[in-house]
Amino acid sequence: MAQRLTVPAVRERKVADGAEPLVMVTAYDAPGARMVDEAGADLILVGDSVAMVVLGHENTLQVTVDDIAHHTAAVARARPLSLVVADMPWMSFHVSTGDTLANAATLIRAGAGAVKLEGGRRRLPMVEALVAAEIPVMGHIGLTPQSVNAMGGFRVQGRNAVAALGLVAAAKALAHAGCFAIVLEGVPDQVAAMVTGSVDVPTIGIGAGPDCDGQVLVFHDVLGIEQDMRPRFVRRYADLHSEGVDALTRFACDVRSGSFPSAEESYRLSDEDAESLGLYDGA
Ligand code: KIV
Repeated sequence: MAQRLTVPAVRERKVADGAEPLVMVTAYDAPGARMVDEAGADLILVGDSVAMVVLGHENTLQVTVDDIAHHTAAVARARPLSLVVADMPWMSFHVSTGDTLANAATLIRAGAGAVKLEGGRRRLPMVEALVAAEIPVMGHIGLTPQSVNAMGGFRVQGRNAVAALGLVAAAKALAHAGCFAIVLEGVPDQVAAMVTGSVDVPTIGIGAGPDCDGQVLVFHDVLGIEQDMRPRFVRRYADLHSEGVDALTRFACDVRSGSFPSAEESYRLSDEDAESLGLYDGA
């Protein structure tokens, strides 16, 4: 029987050591989690991207720990073999280590096997506290969407030598603090390769080129459900938005023309019961 993927097994997955690249996809509900799991993804990320692709917000700053716990619980109910990682939302790990631990515990109790948090050196005390409390942590550096206001938009990071070396230093520090993997988002591919080569934990890229130890994409982007934004790093494998609109249009037509529902799609009383109610079956 297939085994659930563990944090130590993920931690070992360095492509340079001959490992297969890690596959991570976001999911926010049970059917989505079942699809990602059946597709054989190694990890499911209950990302704070739920704010944008599901809840219609402009950025990820609007979601709370309760929101992520709600979606994590839905994903966990699908009982995926993929490792479930819950995103720690903005302001859930910025104030104190006590708050950080309590918030992460809420996500673990909701069903996550690990948490992910954005940021580099400034977040080290939080990472250390979580690891000391036996909560596995995935780091996330580069373009960190929770910093959208501080960065002045969603901008590629590490574009010069100083910034690139800063990312290498941040990755090393996060790995040293105990992160079992690090998401690298929105960085030039050469910088991602440098970072990947400088740490002994896997890097999982998004908009970070091919030289990472794995790749992550957002469910709605892969399946073409999200239409509003299409960053260059997204490869679409389906156009479920168009297929969905087409299916719903046909449903609306069938209702309006009276062809839905058919007799086969309806329930009927027995002739005897219909007769006792005085209903004449003209058929
Ligand atoms: O929230 C999210 O979906 C993420 C990925 C883009 C890595 O953090």
